[in-house]
Amino acid sequence: GLPDRVRVYEVGARDGLQNEKTLVPTAVKVELVQRLVAAGHTAVETTSFVRPEWVPQLADAAELLDALGPAPDGVRMPVLVPNRRGLDRALAAGVREVAVFASATETFARRNLNRSLDESLAALTEVATAARAEGLAVRGYVSMCFGDPWEGAVDPAVVARVATALHDAGASEISLGDTIGVATPGSVVAVLDALVVPVDAVAVHFHDTYGQALANTLVALQHGVSCVDSAAGGLGGCPYAESATGNLATEDLLWQLHHLGISTGVDLDAMVATSAWMATQLGRPSPSRVVNALAPP
Ligand code: HMG
Ligand code: MG
Repeated sequence: GLPDRVRVYEVGARDGLQNEKTLVPTAVKVELVQRLVAAGHTAVETTSFVRPEWVPQLADAAELLDALGPAPDGVRMPVLVPNRRGLDRALAAGVREVAVFASATETFARRNLNRSLDESLAALTEVATAARAEGLAVRGYVSMCFGDPWEGAVDPAVVARVATALHDAGASEISLGDTIGVATPGSVVAVLDALVVPVDAVAVHFHDTYGQALANTLVALQHGVSCVDSAAGGLGGCPYAESATGNLATEDLLWQLHHLGISTGVDLDAMVATSAWMATQLGRPSPSRVVNALAPP
């Protein structure tokens, strides 16, 4: 069966913008986040406190959060943190939730975090424990769950091990990342079947490189998942992963879910208008099919 309601976790402002070639002004990011909240989103990942030399696009994280002010009641505004230094910067900015991230492959752990897989798990456990001691909520990502550009196929048992490590570290939501968009419905089921963590705690995070993100989402929902990550207008990519393109577009997701009678609390028309506006800011059309159908460029 399918869930009655899906939690949409909006990553456009973070995953979407981290890979942009042109520097997006802080004021535009402020307006983007405000528009996402106004559209009804209750989980908006706003930015990252990673090393600014690694991701210059999000170097304005503190200024952005300062301009946004505290998250409105009932709205989660997590930020991505890679280590203790990132957590300290997040705490100084007054955030209430952080997202930590690990990889299911050794190569990507080294390229994205400059650590071995086991070193990165030890580090994120420390960071998650410290965050929870400060009263913060913690989300956890596993990257490269369905394939890796350097290592090829990924063993679902390794994904399960990393997901369990995140769960043990106190992550209340564990997002399975298809960082380069190579998952297909069969590999999604294989990974979900291998997991040991409760499916209530699982989110899926598909990049749409090969056009499979919606099919993958549907099969994940049929297997008990009820939290889906997506990015306004299909923004996104990962600067440290070859061939990573945009995330599943929020509008494409909403179109499918709402027509299935699944509620999200997010307004499709407001999202289309937001992504059409964002496309003019970035100077290129959105890759979302639904944005282009409803608001032709
Ligand atoms: P490192 O170079 O090994 O850092 O990077 P270090 O610990 O050796 O520290 C070196 C210097 O950096 C020190 O300064 C630190 O203070 C500073 P110095 O003493 O030389 O003056 N530093 C920092 N400064 C600001 N904020 C920080 C920070 N940390 C250290 N947080 C590190 C290691 C983890 C920091 C680096 O590899 C990094 O920032 N990586 C993040 C890369 C990234 O953001 N990738 C994209 C996000 S993940 C993703 O997109 C996937 C996802 O969407 C899911 C999916 O699709 O799969 C989530
Ligand atoms: Mg991603």
